[in-house]
Amino acid sequence: MRIPVLVLLPLLTLGGWGAQSLMTRLTGGAAAAEALDLAGLPPGPGRDAVYYTCRACHSSRQFVQQRLSRDEWDALLTEMVKKNGMAEPEPWARTLMLAYLTTHFGPPDDEYGGLPTAPGQEETFGICGACHSIRLVTQQRLTRADWDETLVWMVEEQEMDPLEPEDRKLILDYLATYYGRDVPR
Ligand code: HEC
Ligand code: HEC
Repeated sequence: MRIPVLVLLPLLTLGGWGAQSLMTRLTGGAAAAEALDLAGLPPGPGRDAVYYTCRACHSSRQFVQQRLSRDEWDALLTEMVKKNGMAEPEPWARTLMLAYLTTHFGPPDDEYGGLPTAPGQEETFGICGACHSIRLVTQQRLTRADWDETLVWMVEEQEMDPLEPEDRKLILDYLATYYGRDVPR
């Protein structure tokens, strides 16, 4: 049985067991059982709104593999309304769903922790990100000499394995170029 989304949403936003048992009374056991299993959608604000809005027509498998920006999710919702007959969500529900979709199914984090693409990116990420977050590195702005000191300090005091001369130069060049003293944050 398909339940009109606009009827359900206000009930579901009550959240928790109150809404759930109301669901049971309204729709019977099968729907309640389905309601308990939110199809693997991760918990968070907006999950119910997404689940009951989108599940009216298709499985959440249709969208959990997507990785879209907020604008792209917004465009997709518009497409669902214009082309596929989804009821126009209330503005608050749209905002809630966009926040949920972008949080859980947003674009992947940059593979190299935000390090700019250039020779040395992979080595810097692999070696300097092994013991601590690469952010500890990327938040710094140091002169080449200070980066050099930092590498010495990592080896002498922090148990980093000494780098091959070639890698050391590559990483030092990379850090001095992209995380130098005068580079804006
Ligand atoms: C009224 C029915 C309906 C509702 C409600 C609905 N969809 Fe769809 N959706 C469709 C149909 C029909 C298709 C298949 C269109 C196609 O394959 O071209 C589709 C396809 C999709 C696709 C894959 C196609 C693409 O363009 O990439 C995604 C992703 C999607 N929907 C996400 C959502 C999300 C997220 C929601 C909830 C906010 C939602 N849909 C709600 C009917 C609906
Ligand atoms: C074997 C582990 C290890 C490796 C590999 C390593 N570090 Fe560290 N690093 C540490 C530890 C431990 C600290 C924390 C030291 C402290 O705060 O006392 C640290 C701290 C830092 C800091 C912070 C200094 C501050 O002032 O807060 C910077 C910058 C840094 N590391 C840069 C690097 C760079 C660049 C590399 C790659 C060439 C690297 N680290 C590789 C262990 C490591």
